[in-house]
Amino acid sequence: MVQIPVARPAIGQDEISAVTAVLESGMLAAGERVLEFEKKFADYCSTTHAVAMMNGTAALHTALLAADIGPGDEVIVPSFSFIATATAVSMTGAKPVFVDVNEQTFGIDPAQAEDSVTPKTRAVIGVHLFGQPFDIPGIQQVCDSHNLILIEDAAQAQGAMYNGAKTGGFGQFGCFSFYATKNMTTGEGGMVTTGDKAYSERLRLLINHGQSEKYLHTRLGYNYRMTDIAAAIGLVQLKKLEKFNMRRRKNAEYYDTHISVNGLVTPSVAPGMYHVYHQYVIRLTDEFPMKRGDFMEYLKVKGIGTAVHYPLPIHHQPLYARANEPDSCPVSTSLASSVLSIPVHPLLDQKELAYICDAINRVK
Ligand SMILES: Cc1ncc(COP(=O)(O)O)c(C=O)c1O
Repeated sequence: MVQIPVARPAIGQDEISAVTAVLESGMLAAGERVLEFEKKFADYCSTTHAVAMMNGTAALHTALLAADIGPGDEVIVPSFSFIATATAVSMTGAKPVFVDVNEQTFGIDPAQAEDSVTPKTRAVIGVHLFGQPFDIPGIQQVCDSHNLILIEDAAQAQGAMYNGAKTGGFGQFGCFSFYATKNMTTGEGGMVTTGDKAYSERLRLLINHGQSEKYLHTRLGYNYRMTDIAAAIGLVQLKKLEKFNMRRRKNAEYYDTHISVNGLVTPSVAPGMYHVYHQYVIRLTDEFPMKRGDFMEYLKVKGIGTAVHYPLPIHHQPLYARANEPDSCPVSTSLASSVLSIPVHPLLDQKELAYICDAINRVK
């Protein structure tokens, strides 16, 4: 029976050997491997600094804190994203202000971001959702004209580019996740890139108990450090990232040219964007012959894994929903009920791709 998971980490003998070497060294916590990983990741993104930490949520949280965002402040975020984009803001005591996304590219809508700016707004978090950069010039313009900090949530977009430049280098902060299913992984892990030395120093304080010298604590901090075990995996994965991303792009291209069903919309790529397909997300319109749940079940029976990213927009999550208010982000709401992610990971082979397309195209 065919079994094709929607995501699968690509881990080989070299990651296993790298971890074994750290374990044998006896130095397991943050050390040389973390420093090397930070340097190589900063070079990869063409930023001057990178600070590694335990996950992508910590990356967003500390980036906001490094920018001194807290109670009384507002931060503009897209409603169509993973919850951490918003909860990181709430963790600082600031208020996430939800705006809608572009229906074709899933990126934050600059016009709505502009309309949501108030005297309390301090920052915008744009999300490079599913591996495609958001409208960078549009959001940069909003930030520049209101003196706002731009934070890139690049959790899903290692190696994605706009006009040939990598994500993570456009905003004051770029926040990455290396969770197991991401385009490159450390199991759990995160990184903040920044071009500002003072910000990088603050980030280092924040991830290490606010400690400026041994046992001297100058601000409230956390234990958000990455381990050398995770960094050792990250160093190997970073070397493979370009190859992984090329495979994802090739798989996506195959789907683009081989899937054809009425009412099924394949992903759109905006001009200048280098999409790295963390997810290949299709949309099902009213013309599609099946309901989404039935379609998922049909593919499951054929051994094809799928997932919904995300079934509820963040502004409708119980944590944030306000009763009896008109829907402020209708595109996000509609996408939540119509999107579906199909497998696009780099371990798929040609036979599996053809099998998936055939199964989908039979829905007619
Ligand atoms: C868009 C987005 N932001 C933030 C995060 C948080 O990253 P992590 O799971 O590493 O904390 C994720 C991870 O899934 C994500 O997809």
